[in-house]
Amino acid sequence: MATDTLTITDNRTGTSYEVPVTDGTIPAIALRQIKTGPDDFGLMTYDPAFMNTAACRSAITFIDGDRGILRYRGYPIEQLAERSSFLDVAYLLAEGELPTSAQRSKWEHDVKYHTYVHTKMIKFLEGFRYDAHPMGMLLGAVGAMSTFYPDAKDIQDPANRYIQRVRLMAKIPTLAAFAFRQSRGLPFEFPRNDLDYIGNFVNMTFSIGGKHEPNAVLQRALEILLVLHADHEQNCSTSAVRAVGSSHVDPFSAVSAGIAALYGPLHGGANEAVLRMLDEIGTKAQIPAFIEKVKHGEGRLMGFGHRVYKSYDPRAKLIKRVADDVFAQTGLNPKLEIALELERIALEDEYFISRKLYPNVDFYSGLIYQAMGYPTDFFTVLFAIGRMPGWLAQWQEMLLDKDQKIARPRQIYTGIELRDMP
Ligand code: CMC
Repeated sequence: MATDTLTITDNRTGTSYEVPVTDGTIPAIALRQIKTGPDDFGLMTYDPAFMNTAACRSAITFIDGDRGILRYRGYPIEQLAERSSFLDVAYLLAEGELPTSAQRSKWEHDVKYHTYVHTKMIKFLEGFRYDAHPMGMLLGAVGAMSTFYPDAKDIQDPANRYIQRVRLMAKIPTLAAFAFRQSRGLPFEFPRNDLDYIGNFVNMTFSIGGKHEPNAVLQRALEILLVLHADHEQNCSTSAVRAVGSSHVDPFSAVSAGIAALYGPLHGGANEAVLRMLDEIGTKAQIPAFIEKVKHGEGRLMGFGHRVYKSYDPRAKLIKRVADDVFAQTGLNPKLEIALELERIALEDEYFISRKLYPNVDFYSGLIYQAMGYPTDFFTVLFAIGRMPGWLAQWQEMLLDKDQKIARPRQIYTGIELRDMP
């Protein structure tokens, strides 16, 4: 008998089956042969929320949740955060290698020259109510872009895929900045090709009367945050992009599904929820009472816990260092003191220790964004800009993967079997 197999004995029938074990997994479809009789559909696995199911093979991002490791294409996140630009990381995720200097010039040029959006997009954004959430605007706008680029449907052509990836990378900062200006009632500031990716985004967001004084430290801090958010393997929004993309829809529509998933408070919306939580706590003296409420199931400690990390999120460690740089420029934020104390108390509390709940990427990112001048409801938009390279790389990998088909989970039907209408 081969050793890299699993023998399963069905105690209902006494029959044994041998299924292959590859890369620590068994093919779920191999269970279908396990039947109690000819009319039996065959065995399935029940795995709500995909707690223990690998839905793809991926060569993009590696996470070891127990050891707090995150790598893009094999490079440790710590090295990339220190030494790479966001566009280099975007290139690395999609192409598999860091760009050579010629490749970098072309990639940066291509992205720079696709930053404009159709002027009709401005009318589209102006149609939103004055108090529309910028994430709602962004997901609508990115979905709407599919109507401006009908050629994006040609997903089997590599050259076409490249141009759509460039468009999405280039236009998301423009749409994000426009959503910001729309919610503030400010005139839109158009992209400037003389600025780099981050500088152009910051300028489109904050420029008043055509002027903005760039702060190199804050811009580099923002760039590091985007690098840290660039991919995180099969998370909720990436799974949404892959699942929707598996229907072979255009990438604008697939990515807008990712933005919708990211909007939720258990995912990208957590950075916004952390700030609201810190506001609710108000003072350091209130922290113990707040922790007690969480322990009694009244709400969660936002910015804590992760499906995969069961130790300190490596991104959170790096973000704390970025926070030091940013607060040295902007002055201390009183909420930071509450956050630090909250973290200290939680990390000593048995409830959080026994459940392996540590700060995640969102615990400090919101505080940094706030210090940089972004309003709370814009934090998740910044996450979306950061995650765009990951969505695009994963979308492309899914399309090129011969094992993939349209995503279509099974169910266990629990409803009424059959009845006649009254
Ligand atoms: N505060 C208090 N208790 C928690 C928390 C929390 N933040 N997270 C998990 N728990 C408890 C949960 O109540 C459960 O306890 P028990 O076993 O007694 O029922 C246990 O820990 C396991 O929780 P779970 O819900 O089964 O864990 P999960 O892997 O399904 O959830 C999570 C992961 C991130 C959704 C969750 O930890 C959470 O809701 N955290 C707060 C929201 C947050 O910060 N999200 C950002 C995630 S990182 C950025 C991103 O990738 O989007």
